[in-house]
Amino acid sequence: MIPLRAWTEIDLSAYERNLKNIKQALPETVSFISVVKADAYGHGLPQIVERSLQSGIKTFAVANIQEATEIRNVGVGWPILLLGALMPGEEQYIPNSEFIPTISSLEELIRLQSVCEAKQSIVQLHLKIDTGMGRLGLWYADTSECIKRIQASPNLKLSGIYTHFSDPVNDPQFTQIQRQRLESVIATIQSNSAISVHADSSASFNALSESSPYNAVRIGLLQYGVLPYPKMQALNISVTPTLSFYTKVGLVKTLPKGSSISYGRSYQLNRDSKIAILTAGYGDGIPLPYSGRGSVIIQDKLCPILGRITMDQIIVDVTDLKSVQSGERVILIGRSENCSITLERFCQDSDSIPWEVLCSITKRVQRVYTNPRT
Ligand SMILES: Cc1ncc(COP(=O)(O)O)c(C=O)c1O
Repeated sequence: MIPLRAWTEIDLSAYERNLKNIKQALPETVSFISVVKADAYGHGLPQIVERSLQSGIKTFAVANIQEATEIRNVGVGWPILLLGALMPGEEQYIPNSEFIPTISSLEELIRLQSVCEAKQSIVQLHLKIDTGMGRLGLWYADTSECIKRIQASPNLKLSGIYTHFSDPVNDPQFTQIQRQRLESVIATIQSNSAISVHADSSASFNALSESSPYNAVRIGLLQYGVLPYPKMQALNISVTPTLSFYTKVGLVKTLPKGSSISYGRSYQLNRDSKIAILTAGYGDGIPLPYSGRGSVIIQDKLCPILGRITMDQIIVDVTDLKSVQSGERVILIGRSENCSITLERFCQDSDSIPWEVLCSITKRVQRVYTNPRT
């Protein structure tokens, strides 16, 4: 086997435990929509979906039809909510699939309706309401024409209504306004069958009670064991990170004090130094702003990154380590016996957010799965 240069390890049993703990924290009336867009936040969609199914997850959400088709390749039998805009031409893939489109405009609705009429099929849809995110969704004060059209059509079934919060962590007051706006739309809908109502994601789902009108949540980040904000720890939701990120030492050498390091001579050695050149760079998803700020773990010691990160390589200071060899494992995100680099810390030192870092780990980084179900 060709030796790995950069890889992530994904602990599927930690993932399953996270799902269980989140489900336990939800009121019984609230169902779990597992958000697996962007290749399950970089964890690998088929592997994550398969383990979710084994853990009793029954509904998934993805960004688009292409991602939904990847779930279909794992198997059939579960609804898949498409969170993105319904592009012209995509409506033809909805009838007789288990894909549930999000409708954000009259134009999308008309296209969906005409294809359903032509194919004489009934499709489910979720109506998205823009309550203050300023992204997808019908503006909350402007929904009546779409709702009337859906209710008058034998081909369209409103099976869900939802919104997305723009700042649930820092602006609870505005989040409350967003809830009220959604609830004002719900009050105008007459329906004989159950409608899924959802607004909360990882950052806010813990605010729900059985008496609220919300009967579903869309959870992404938290199921991968990452807290959307640090203080969430205090809320008694126990999750552990599912992903660790590794690379290797490619070359070790010594350079005299004053030597310059990397592109732009972005660092000058202030002592005679031993440096290690690692086999991963921004081509593997390590953000450029991490240059000169982040560290890695080698032999259970934090080693600072020197100078600019390059496409395939990073240079780190290993002067204080005894003997470092080419081929040694290096931790980029993860923990050793006495050291850890959490995803949260990695994000802080690279001016990024966990969602972005996870999605940015590139294709050439091999995903290695641990603790599969046998
Ligand atoms: C519409 C929508 N719902 C739910 C989520 C899941 O959010 P989180 O990963 O914070 O749980 C996202 C994430 O980007 C989203 O865009």
